[in-house]
Amino acid sequence: MQRGHAPTTRRRIGASIAASALILAACQGGGGGDAGNYPEQEITIVVPFSAGGPTDTVTRLIADPMAADLDAEIVVQNVEGAGGTVAADQVANAEPDGYTVLMHHIGMSTAPTLYPELSYNPLEDFETVGLVTEVPMTIIGSPNFEPNTMEELIAYVTDNLDTVTYANAGIGAASQLCGLLFEEATGLDVTEVPYEGTGPAMDDLLGDQVDFMCDQTTNTTEPILSGDVKAYAVTTPERVASLPDIPTTEEEGLANMAVSVWHGLYVPADTPQEIVDALNAALVAALADENVISRLGELGTAPVAEDRATPDAHREQLQSQIDLWRPIIEAAGVTAG
Ligand code: MLT
Repeated sequence: MQRGHAPTTRRRIGASIAASALILAACQGGGGGDAGNYPEQEITIVVPFSAGGPTDTVTRLIADPMAADLDAEIVVQNVEGAGGTVAADQVANAEPDGYTVLMHHIGMSTAPTLYPELSYNPLEDFETVGLVTEVPMTIIGSPNFEPNTMEELIAYVTDNLDTVTYANAGIGAASQLCGLLFEEATGLDVTEVPYEGTGPAMDDLLGDQVDFMCDQTTNTTEPILSGDVKAYAVTTPERVASLPDIPTTEEEGLANMAVSVWHGLYVPADTPQEIVDALNAALVAALADENVISRLGELGTAPVAEDRATPDAHREQLQSQIDLWRPIIEAAGVTAG
């Protein structure tokens, strides 16, 4: 199994932090942050999965325009492990000063059920900054995997349960949730191969080292369109514009498999409101950026509408998704413990 890296990529540097010492005393915002002058140093956005995967792709796409809006440097740091919970724990325990930000996805809402001993509470230990995007998932197969359609996939997996493998990014990952829904819909219990992100999982899938996986269109659109992987279905109720030939799971007769991977930005609880507002304004600016819109469109998704890129809409989404997924995960009997 190939493991991910933890690279750190520097984004643009605009701000001078000269003279900040004189101003520091004037604008203390509480919670350890100098809210009035924020930002005065580089900001780190922590990504809970490997570089080169879908969460990383979305984060790096918005980092540039966010940095421009904030007039600050943004560093993207990949902190893999335990289906995204290592990164979330790190940010929950960071200084609430706006310099450590978490990009996370639907896994923030499934982790409290999947991890009975979770070290943080997603609702209490973070401030929500705003939603970013919602990404469809696809069920894809390796180039030399025998099945070519969903019907063939189900038949093949049924006949070869002892040998077939599917990749995911660990318990708490979107790929794991989607795989769980696939198993529930088909009644099949397939052998999982966990990675630290679907970026490295895709490498192994392309090399025929693992047979199939569920992954986001931000990672799968290009290999699907180039014919490098087989595509069996998209997990949205409607077909995806950038993949018009791929049927939906519903068209393929798979019940209750509709899932989109929503992403949002978080900072530690007690971060001053001025800082949350500054980050939110930068997020809104990034989501209106032409390059972001067009690249997300190529990858099968779009920025959320502006009224969803707010701390309140994000918090409501988080709460409602915790409530949505808890009974489904409990009924499936899956836990990390
Ligand atoms: C990733 O960025 O590698 C994925 O989002 C992992 C996942 O949740 O499946």
